[in-house]
Amino acid sequence: MRLLGHEQWLPNRRAEATAVVISKSYLGDTNMLKEPQYKYRPFPAIDLPDRTWPSRVLKAPPIWLSTDLRDGNQALFEPMGMERKREMFSLLCAIGFKEIEVGFPSASQTDFDFVRRLIEGRLVPPDVTIGALTPAREDLIVTTVAALCGARRAIVHVYNAISPVFRNIVFRKDKAAVLAMAQESVRTVKALTQAHPETQWVLQYSPEAFSGAELDFACEVCDAVVEAWDPATDDKVIINLPATVEMATPNVFADQVEWMHRHMARREMVVLSVHPHNDRGTAVAAAELALMAGAERVEGCLFGHGERTGNVDLVTLALNLYTQGVSPQLDFSGLDQVARTVSECTRLPISPRHPYVGELVYTAFSGSHQDAIKKGLAAQKEGTFWNVPYLPLDPQCVGRNYEAIIRVNSQSGKGGIAYVLETHYGIVLPRNLLIAFSRVIQGSTDSTGTEMTPEQIWAAFQNEYLGARGNTRYCSHELSQDQDSSRHRVRLHLERDGEMVCYEGYGNGPLDAGVRALPVPFRLCHYEERSIGEGSATNALAVIELEPLTGGPAVFGVGIHNSIVTASLIALVRAFASSGLGLARDSACA
Ligand code: KIV
Ligand code: ZN
Repeated sequence: MRLLGHEQWLPNRRAEATAVVISKSYLGDTNMLKEPQYKYRPFPAIDLPDRTWPSRVLKAPPIWLSTDLRDGNQALFEPMGMERKREMFSLLCAIGFKEIEVGFPSASQTDFDFVRRLIEGRLVPPDVTIGALTPAREDLIVTTVAALCGARRAIVHVYNAISPVFRNIVFRKDKAAVLAMAQESVRTVKALTQAHPETQWVLQYSPEAFSGAELDFACEVCDAVVEAWDPATDDKVIINLPATVEMATPNVFADQVEWMHRHMARREMVVLSVHPHNDRGTAVAAAELALMAGAERVEGCLFGHGERTGNVDLVTLALNLYTQGVSPQLDFSGLDQVARTVSECTRLPISPRHPYVGELVYTAFSGSHQDAIKKGLAAQKEGTFWNVPYLPLDPQCVGRNYEAIIRVNSQSGKGGIAYVLETHYGIVLPRNLLIAFSRVIQGSTDSTGTEMTPEQIWAAFQNEYLGARGNTRYCSHELSQDQDSSRHRVRLHLERDGEMVCYEGYGNGPLDAGVRALPVPFRLCHYEERSIGEGSATNALAVIELEPLTGGPAVFGVGIHNSIVTASLIALVRAFASSGLGLARDSACA
């Protein structure tokens, strides 16, 4: 490892000094350019000063098309075989997709066979339309139509790339040739499908690399395609605008879509669709703005699978709508199961930070977040608008529970510990005990640097407050009540340094009598009792805080017993034992 000789000294939490050394190994062999403007240029703005999309609000879901079995599948280390494809198809139908691109039959025999199996096995639900992709080439279109024949309704999805980089470098074809290719392929689809009227055929055309193409040319090609198909009023053409590579900020894509929406010749005969990829990490935003700009349909994949950085994530898009009060018409109530199935089919993991589904997205480690969430959840009333800080979605809506919301590590505060004890063990600690116990947990998480599970927190609590304290241990007690004065008498039988001792006291109640029985005067600052567990296993938990009247810090004691009085006296003795006081006086009972 080569060092750059650049060092900074930063104090860490314990005010020690730590050297932060910036290592050359973080920087790679070829440094980033200091003047990237000579290699990369900004994407030109679209001339659309009267754009309308910024003030539109989404009030309805788009038509969704899942391309998990095509674009998603193309981008896997191991493309799905028949069984995994079947599994994915069932999942997509169960979620509620009504349009599913099921493969690329002219490119893959597995895809061809899968499409045939769906059709011949009558596996496509009556309200679902399947589609297949084909390049704009006659022989490949023939194979694709053959694969789809016999379906109730089928989308033939033709594409050719139209942008300058493809025209000039990849194909060496001029605009006229690219346009003719698109038009010719549509005529081929028309001729082939007309020979199979038992299927209701839908044409979809994608000007591949649309986001990097001249808008007027893209529009010319799309108009020519619509013209060549010559749709009837009840038979619209799907024009799908792909950001094959995401090249600009989402507002630019929205401008491109609005421009097309306003300029296409037979717009009323078109279902305007978008197909955003996520190269800049903004595909979701691009799709949302594109819908505001006039698109009616979105193509993407579950959890953003797909080429390179993926297609737009349909789960995030759908749940974004949901959290604005718009039903997406896709059911993600069992989101974890959806995630498991997708991971099994794709053999790819999902990030713990993935929106809505990641393991950690409903979790707070930081103390202030935990405190706010705890208060927000407590204030949330059934039947009112969701209004919990840090949680844009109620996890229960997607089948998650509140248990994992608050997790405890060295960043957590008392709010988190309180939440864990309350939700997992039904225990609400008094504030001062919570502060004291938080210090114990903080010490532990600081030294291990790891998270503490609810079980570990409970074990620490038991160790700290429910084990033996000092040299004194509760053994038993006798309780009686004076008939005349109705005062209570308590005799506490304790073991002290291995010997039995007994203390007696009188008071207004058993606990008051217990406090007065102690061999040192204490003030009872806090007493709390609650039940823990359920049914016949219910126990009482008592928490006591005592302040020695002779001076010294307050002490806590906790007791658990199936009798409230016994739990309280055990807590009292533990608090007393923690104080370390009382060794000088002798047993008071005969
Ligand atoms: O990303 C893309 O351009 C595509 C097309 C084939 C629709 O997947
Ligand atoms: Zn794509």
